[in-house]
Amino acid sequence: MPQSSSLHVAIVMDGNGRWAGRRGLPRVAGHRAGAEAVRRTVEAAPDLGIGALTLYAFSADNWKRPASEVAALMRLFARYLRTETPRLLKNGVRLEVVGRRDRLPAPLVAAIGAAERATARGTGLRLRLAVDYSARWAIGAGVVLPDVDLLIRTGGERRLSDFLLWESAYAELHFVETMWPDFGPAELAAAVADFHARERRFGGLSEAVAG
Ligand code: FPP
Repeated sequence: MPQSSSLHVAIVMDGNGRWAGRRGLPRVAGHRAGAEAVRRTVEAAPDLGIGALTLYAFSADNWKRPASEVAALMRLFARYLRTETPRLLKNGVRLEVVGRRDRLPAPLVAAIGAAERATARGTGLRLRLAVDYSARWAIGAGVVLPDVDLLIRTGGERRLSDFLLWESAYAELHFVETMWPDFGPAELAAAVADFHARERRFGGLSEAVAG
């Protein structure tokens, strides 16, 4: 049963390239495996008390990657949206894409619009994919999402990389070595358990000190 509390969890999905490289595979194979991890994570979220999940799929700085990798990612996002929409609908997920759309390829923009419209009445998990997203840009444009409770980054790096800077003002940060394609329900459950073990004071005193 889903827990009653509703958390906003955000994830920097890092490590696809390294995951592929270690297996002698092209980077795009890591991104494809990453899409499987997205599905597992989305489906595990509601039972862990997660009401909103924001995933960093493509940053505004990712345009600096080779054109072939960028094109493969754009096709992968469009394919994910088209093939996953029936499952999202079945699971009551409401999908939204945040970020700039004016630089995305037209077939992806169309797939985003179709997936958003199809899932608009979902009453379960709110799934947000951040595509061509920059927190600095979003803050400047006045596009601010609900506060993040827990921000997870896979792949061993410990930085925010222009993701949800404003919304993460009081987020608990959870960094794991796991490469994104290896992430799944067990890792998500461990991150949520770690979150619940922390004391969030929001600048106040701990209950023990305040009495
Ligand atoms: C970072 O790993 C990952 C990305 C830039 C792309 C994220 C995309 C996915 C998880 C694919 C599927 C997503 C959806 C929404 C279907 P990296 O390539 O920077 O890894 P590295 O640091 O090991 O090179």
